[in-house]
Amino acid sequence: MSAQTLGMPRDERFVRRLSSKSTSTTDLNMGPTVVVPPKHLTAPSDAHEIAAAMEIARHSIELPITPPSAPGTPLETTVTGKYAFAFDIDGVLIRGGKPIPEAIEAMKVLNGQNEYGIKIPYIFVTNGGGKSENERCLQLSQQLQIEVSPGQFICGHTPMREMAEKYRTVLVIGGEGEKCRQVAEAYGFKDVVTPGDIIKDNQDTTPFRKLTEDEHNNSRLRNFAEVEIDAIFVFADSRDWASDQQIILDLLMSKNGRLGTRSENFDEGPPVFFSHNDVVWSTSHDLTRIGMGALRVSLEAMFKAVTGTDLQTIAFGKPQIGTFEFATRLLQQWRKETHGINEPPETVYFVGDTPESDIRGTNEFNNEAENTWYSILVRTGVFREGTKPKFQPKVTVDTVLDAVLHGLEREQKKALKRRVLEASIEAETIEE
Ligand code: G3P
Ligand code: MG
Repeated sequence: MSAQTLGMPRDERFVRRLSSKSTSTTDLNMGPTVVVPPKHLTAPSDAHEIAAAMEIARHSIELPITPPSAPGTPLETTVTGKYAFAFDIDGVLIRGGKPIPEAIEAMKVLNGQNEYGIKIPYIFVTNGGGKSENERCLQLSQQLQIEVSPGQFICGHTPMREMAEKYRTVLVIGGEGEKCRQVAEAYGFKDVVTPGDIIKDNQDTTPFRKLTEDEHNNSRLRNFAEVEIDAIFVFADSRDWASDQQIILDLLMSKNGRLGTRSENFDEGPPVFFSHNDVVWSTSHDLTRIGMGALRVSLEAMFKAVTGTDLQTIAFGKPQIGTFEFATRLLQQWRKETHGINEPPETVYFVGDTPESDIRGTNEFNNEAENTWYSILVRTGVFREGTKPKFQPKVTVDTVLDAVLHGLEREQKKALKRRVLEASIEAETIEE
């Protein structure tokens, strides 16, 4: 197994701590170009081959299956370079703000508390958002009882930062209070408008929504008759669908994003971007709840009903291939900087609960990536036993802990086969 011993001073130099918050935003954007290896050693194994390999290993080769250790001595922990994990968050690790109990155990296994003493690099790829990456990582660190760095985290709106150069004045929808405005400004957007600003300027905009005192104080007063909104970004779930949709609709039907105007053919409005397209998601309720994808469907239907024309919107997040490419770059950089591993992993295990975003995205990316992206579906979230997932995972397991153990065991078997092969080649060479 290609592994690197932990605890060397070189590693320490590269570890980014949450306290160094400045590393997050730059790092997410500045990932190196990914070089993925040619496909090899990825042929599926079957039971009799494994059994034969185990037999040879036990009787002929004298290779230890687990790292040797004296009784009572903690195992030497090594970091594997062969594989890595990527985790969806809602429905896999967290539900309704609380950790799924097996998730804490799963993190311990990844961090070396397993019978092989192996540490496995991992990242998080969520469609969720509404907070800065730093804030979300701090929260996740507490929930999972580990240290989560922004350097190993992507949320739904992370790729939106790349649009900050292109669009100057933008309307940001969703999230709590002013949080999404702050996120957008931190991404570099120059002029960020919220629905609150628009209602503050003209309270007749939304007949059934009045601003609270806080909202009124936080909203920025300006004359929207003189403002052109260049793009609309739905950063997080809307807290008030009716008023947010009214404002989006007004802009879509406007001339060049100027409120109070109407375009003749309704084709002069700004583009609308959603940070993801999950129609439902898994939270504290027993059943799934509607999410941002439902708002998108609703907005498109409403636009058609009102204008008679179709509306094209754009969604980021999973299952978009771009999100998985972004994840590849993040993982590459994370493994390099924290573990000194330069080679891409042969396999990335992606653990998700939503067939339409997690499994679909992983499977489609697997078809074009040069390494293996292996989809694992869990039963703790959107997917429920007894239904047929629209997109088939490589394997379905109960919890994220089972997913981690599945990947770990699968890799141990692969490693064993490799060692057997190497040993038999060596034996043949000696005989000759
Ligand atoms: O709103 C977030 C939700 O739709 C999905 O989050 O972590 O399951 O990708 P996640
Ligand atoms: Mg999920």
